[in-house]
Amino acid sequence: MAPIDPHSFTDSTHPLTTHVSLTLYFQFPSSTIHATALLALQTPHTGPLSLDTRALTIHKILDPATQTPLSFTLSPSEHPIKGRLLTVYLNNNSSVLILYSTSPSSSALQWLTPPQTFKKIHPFVYTQCQSVHARSVFPCQDTPAARICYSAKLNLPRELSAVMSARHCDRHDPVGTDLDGVLTNEESGFDLKSLWCEEGRIVEAFVMEQPIPPYLFAFAVGELGFREVGPRTRVYSEAVDGVLDAAAREFAGTEEMIRQAERLFGEYEWERFDLLVLPPSFPYGGMENPRMVFLTPTVIKGDASGAQIVAHELAHSWTGNLITNKNNEHFWLNEGFTTYAERRIFEVVQGEDIAALNIGIGWRGLNEEVERFKDNMEFTKLKNNQEGVDPDDMYSRVPYEKGFQFLWRIEHQIGRPAFDEFLKKYIATFKFKSIDTDTFLDFLKANVHGIEKGIDLQLWTEGTGIPPDAHEPVSNLYVKITSLANDFKLGRMPREDEVASWKGQEWELYLKNLPRAVEASQVLALDARYRLSESKDYEVKVAFLQLAISSRCRDYYGEVEKTLKDVGRMKYLRPLYSGLVQGPGNEEDKFFAKRVFAEAHECYHPIAQGVVEAIFAKHV
Ligand code: BES
Ligand code: ZN
Repeated sequence: MAPIDPHSFTDSTHPLTTHVSLTLYFQFPSSTIHATALLALQTPHTGPLSLDTRALTIHKILDPATQTPLSFTLSPSEHPIKGRLLTVYLNNNSSVLILYSTSPSSSALQWLTPPQTFKKIHPFVYTQCQSVHARSVFPCQDTPAARICYSAKLNLPRELSAVMSARHCDRHDPVGTDLDGVLTNEESGFDLKSLWCEEGRIVEAFVMEQPIPPYLFAFAVGELGFREVGPRTRVYSEAVDGVLDAAAREFAGTEEMIRQAERLFGEYEWERFDLLVLPPSFPYGGMENPRMVFLTPTVIKGDASGAQIVAHELAHSWTGNLITNKNNEHFWLNEGFTTYAERRIFEVVQGEDIAALNIGIGWRGLNEEVERFKDNMEFTKLKNNQEGVDPDDMYSRVPYEKGFQFLWRIEHQIGRPAFDEFLKKYIATFKFKSIDTDTFLDFLKANVHGIEKGIDLQLWTEGTGIPPDAHEPVSNLYVKITSLANDFKLGRMPREDEVASWKGQEWELYLKNLPRAVEASQVLALDARYRLSESKDYEVKVAFLQLAISSRCRDYYGEVEKTLKDVGRMKYLRPLYSGLVQGPGNEEDKFFAKRVFAEAHECYHPIAQGVVEAIFAKHV
């Protein structure tokens, strides 16, 4: 056994899967999917084949050529991070057919009952597979080192429709031949054939012909509608006119961003760039599922500022989706490059001053994270050891912001034109490959002669903390805002004329540069003047509520509770829950946090539930 990824049972001596063909029957009343997965391997194989699973029931495994059963074992206990090892015993087979069901606790899936949706009529289900959750949807070698193409047929109630991170082929009435090549008529003991052609069902078929890491597998099923927002972009969401119209306005500038990104990084390779706005429980701001980016509804603020998240997920089309980290220990290759690319796109469409604000917000974030990890400096390294580490629990801004700083440092060293040329070449060389930090460094040294003499590459990629040659942005607006934040420490609040032009990002930067805790009376005075607790922009509102919590200003706990119940985005849950339970004593706040979680947790995605539980386990 030679593992290639600390988060997967995949064995380096086994052939990798190249194609997965899925049939998925969605049974909403039981929150389960009854399914088949046909895995095709690189080469025929004899002996054990190790696959990752989590919360799956395996009914049967067959040799698809002969439909004869293959023997398999499922490890008796569930590894807390990796899940359950499924071992299938092969005899010169190049494919396996697995009949299985998901369970309501499958960690990638959030099943929403009708009352939990906007329209309250139909149910909704969606995936979030990054980093280690694809294995709870289908058995696979769940490591980004194993890139797969896939096809999928989804069988749903006919009132619903589906989207995927794949090309939509058709929508048709279910027919027995949908299962051809998967199940023969003789096949028994599994009820998929009879379920499949029931009344009132519809089949949606998809294919993904470009090889992707399993964490980019994605679907959503519900009563969906869409608006056209560009030649290759539609925005989808629950079919509510108000939501769709607001989303279409917010994302009207998408095509312009795609063009700018193509100019910077090369042709857009994924054909379509559609957007899906999810229910408020979506645990991230955005997820770069290819062809169909998933977004939190909190990005729709009515001022087109959601463009930043779209720029980020769009940038992943090159950095992350074309070139992918080999495993999560090199996650900075995904997120650091994407943060750099996002800011380059953003600078073209929004201007240098706003781009500098984002760099400044990121810089504050990086400093806070390094402080947070002061007892665990391993996580302040770009390349780090994640043996025994749950990627959801150690998620931080470090790979984003330290990664950004590293690339920005290289840009300054060699100049923008040379760096742009290097980036294009890097992407063209490694597209559709999964690589590690050393591969990047070797390529850098080979293409930028003498770079290692100007920058300590080893310190940047393997050292802890923030290297001395990292730096803050230089911009008048940035300096003005941070100095106003310093004045607050001396008791001076900004005047109305000083903030007249401020939007969300300016306030966010201001709030993040205030001391962590101030006098409760100062919190009240700031809000009395600028109504930050009522901001429609969640970045501003949550930054303010964080200040209120760490200043123990309980006047705002009603608003904290409401926020924790309205949205399930972990970027907001983490600081609010941590703020409440951190520190000694403080029993009242801990009790409050636990009560709110008890009342709200059912609305959170399973990943978010796990993350909040981990915060409680550490502090309560
Ligand atoms: N790929 C990430 C989201 C992610 C990371 C999911 C790790 C699971 C594990 C996505 O591209 C991302 O970074 N989203 C950010 C957007 C922001 C940086 C603009 C988010 O959700 O906050
Ligand atoms: Zn990202």
